Amino acid sequence: MDELIAGRVAVVTGGARGIGLAVVEAIAARGVAVVCLDTPDADLDGFDAACRAAGVASRGVGVDVRDQAAVRDAVAGARDLGRVSYAVNCAGVDGLVESAGMSASEWNRVVDVDLDGVMYACQAEHDAMGRLGGSIVNIASMSGHIVNRGVTHAAYSAAKAGVIHLSKALAVEWAPLGIRVNSLSPGYTLTAMTRRNPPEVNAGFAAQTPLGRLAQVEEVAEPVVFLLGDRASFVTGTDLLVDGGFCAW
Ligand SMILES: NC(=O)c1ccc[n+]([C@@H]2O[C@H](COP(=O)([O-])OP(=O)(O)OC[C@H]3O[C@@H](n4cnc5c(N)ncnc54)[C@H](O)[C@@H]3O)[C@@H](O)[C@H]2O)c1
Repeated sequence: MDELIAGRVAVVTGGARGIGLAVVEAIAARGVAVVCLDTPDADLDGFDAACRAAGVASRGVGVDVRDQAAVRDAVAGARDLGRVSYAVNCAGVDGLVESAGMSASEWNRVVDVDLDGVMYACQAEHDAMGRLGGSIVNIASMSGHIVNRGVTHAAYSAAKAGVIHLSKALAVEWAPLGIRVNSLSPGYTLTAMTRRNPPEVNAGFAAQTPLGRLAQVEEVAEPVVFLLGDRASFVTGTDLLVDGGFCAW
């Protein structure tokens, strides 16, 4: 059974860096063309280089996932490269704000990107896949399962819990079309998002993780490829925790 079918097209949101870029590299290495949606000011050099190195077609589009119409147009354009069978929705932001007194704009900044943006991407990917079917993986977080110790980010946690349940709802609605929808919840992973933390904070995260460290981005990307491909052909509406055992403790 093929992991992914070479020659098909994948859409990846937030693919300019971090977990999204590692997902792009893992998908491109399987011969799949990639269309990346990231913010208009994102540096797409890493994305371009990864696709060039793998010898696959690619397109980077500057689009904010909060813009439903722009996301729809960008994903529809992915069909220029071939049949869209795969999508990974990775674009996300965090916001470390205490809940009492959190402004509406701070709440919305996180929820609009992390939950609404995933919904808009899924809608567009559903349209691009159509009745030929496909597979969507939404990047949630273990923060959608548990409340992180010592971190105040209720909007992020609520949005990620929403992504997990949204994925289940879409999986049921779209199963008759042959579109599988799953989410994947990383634990603490070394990216720009976590490198911003003081070293003692990341050391604390590592100490709270049974495997004793943060994940490398590749350790998240490979399970994404599993969920995307036909080896997971009977897996839909589930969430895969990739957290070094954090939530088991
Ligand atoms: N790093 C972690 O420890 C961790 C843990 C659990 C879940 N996650 C999730 O994994 C995903 C990737 O995180 P990361 O650590 O690689 O973060 P990152 O900040 O390195 O990358 C996020 C990417 O999303 C893009 N993005 C942000 N807002 C956007 C918008 N409005 N429109 C389009 N693109 C936008 C950014 O430009 C960037 O390329 C996020 O959804 C994050 O919540 C990360």
